[in-house]
Amino acid sequence: MITSPLESLSQLSRTLPTGTPTTDVEDGVDPVTETSGRPVAAAVDDVRKTYYLGEPVHALDGVSLTLPAGSFTAVMGPSGSGKSTLLNLFGCLDTPDEGTVEIGGEVASELSEAERARVRGTRIGFVFQGFDLLPRLTAVENVALPMVFHGRQGSDRHDRARGLLERVGLGDRLDHVPTELSGGQRQRVAIARALANDPAILLADEPTGNLDTETGERIMGLFRDLNGEETTILMVTHERHIADHADRIVHLLDGRIEEVEGLDPNERGGRPRPDPEDRVDGSGGGS
Ligand SMILES: Nc1ncnc2c1ncn2[C@@H]1O[C@H](COP(=O)(O)OP(=O)(O)O)[C@@H](O)[C@H]1O
Ligand SMILES: [Mg+2]
Repeated sequence: MITSPLESLSQLSRTLPTGTPTTDVEDGVDPVTETSGRPVAAAVDDVRKTYYLGEPVHALDGVSLTLPAGSFTAVMGPSGSGKSTLLNLFGCLDTPDEGTVEIGGEVASELSEAERARVRGTRIGFVFQGFDLLPRLTAVENVALPMVFHGRQGSDRHDRARGLLERVGLGDRLDHVPTELSGGQRQRVAIARALANDPAILLADEPTGNLDTETGERIMGLFRDLNGEETTILMVTHERHIADHADRIVHLLDGRIEEVEGLDPNERGGRPRPDPEDRVDGSGGGS
């Protein structure tokens, strides 16, 4: 097994306790809410979500998390720990039972469903765990579809969709429908579609879950490029070497934030970016 250079980098990150309220942590930085003076792209404050199926299930049990503009956060945690529920709140796909969700200065949790759809359509790109591609549309049509609602012209939409598919390495699969694509290729179409309207915030639920290591690393390269262009990213993953591409890793357990790693307020990214050469050459890493 090749050792990932990222593994040693990850040791540079710090583990800070959470659960205690803001500011009182060791060096005065609360990794959950600190923005280092940057604007807030999105935030949830003490959100709770309970499902009742016989016994109540506390999918989220008092979670606060701020996404500074231009930050890149990974969420890890065992199955059922609340990762998708948290992402759905940030994505305005769901509302909390208690607590607030703020997106770009608007309190989304107090908006109507139609207004939340507007926030979602204008600010957010969402990569669903199950991809959610439309089966009768080709790759390029799937990617172009969200642009329809933004009033882009047809040829313009097609050109942009093609460019996005090329960016995820699918320039040769433009006219394939989802059943003609592998799981990993569908996942990349879903990523390209999430970028269609140039979202300020990219939310991705296991975006590399179906990809081989090399393609996964390539997608992380794309995410880091987007992040370098100031896209705010919140990504769920169960793979440590994928999470290591983020600035900060939030660990969920039983609907609560158990631990946060990373985030150096004085340095964007909080840890040095690995050399791209290292990534390409056998950083294979993790699983
Ligand atoms: N629509 C739902 N109805 C009932 N229970 C749900 C629903 N969505 C999620 N849950 C429950 O909430 C908990 C958290 O789910 P989820 O956020 O999907 O976890 P994760 O993404 O970390 O696997 C789980 O116990 C799950 O079974
Ligand atoms: Mg999930």
